[in-house]
Amino acid sequence: MSGSSMPAAARGHGSEAVSVAAERRWAYIVMAIIALLILMMVFTGLHWASMPPSRVETVDIKTLHVKGEFVESNLGTTMGPDGKVIVRLIAQQYSFVPQCIVVPAEMSVTFRGTATDAIHGFIVGKTNVNTMLIPGFVATFTTTFSRTGEQLMPCHEYCGTGHEAMWARVQVLPTAEFLSKARGGERLSCVPS
Ligand code: CUA
Repeated sequence: MSGSSMPAAARGHGSEAVSVAAERRWAYIVMAIIALLILMMVFTGLHWASMPPSRVETVDIKTLHVKGEFVESNLGTTMGPDGKVIVRLIAQQYSFVPQCIVVPAEMSVTFRGTATDAIHGFIVGKTNVNTMLIPGFVATFTTTFSRTGEQLMPCHEYCGTGHEAMWARVQVLPTAEFLSKARGGERLSCVPS
């Protein structure tokens, strides 16, 4: 530590100069680290002020069920003429609609979801799909599933007494199988009918 804490007898003129130089060196290093941290704060602050952390898209909860993108007949998976796969879903206390979601493997899949009552969220099994669903806002998440099979999709935001029973299933189909089903252009889901 500092030279001044050494016993007076052990402190020669030379060793005192060495310790003073060492302390000054450390002071410079610490000042440099502090200056770097302040610069990082200023940079990220200014950078994010000009670029919001996520795109904000709103939706009217009062008309959610009767018109627009999230009416019941429009929920589930669709593939547009451009080949883009979109999954639309709604979270409510205490279930997801649809209860079973079909997606293809090895293709880009975009989830578009919202909530009707409380803040919900979902994660899909061992994938990177993880987002919150907030009433009045549309959450989007784009990912590619590398493995086929079934995954669980639980709600991961505490939303009330039924929270732990709130979950859906995601079926990841081989690309060819999904494409043959999606050709009709209709909404897909794996909810037993
Ligand atoms: Cu919905 Cu927890």
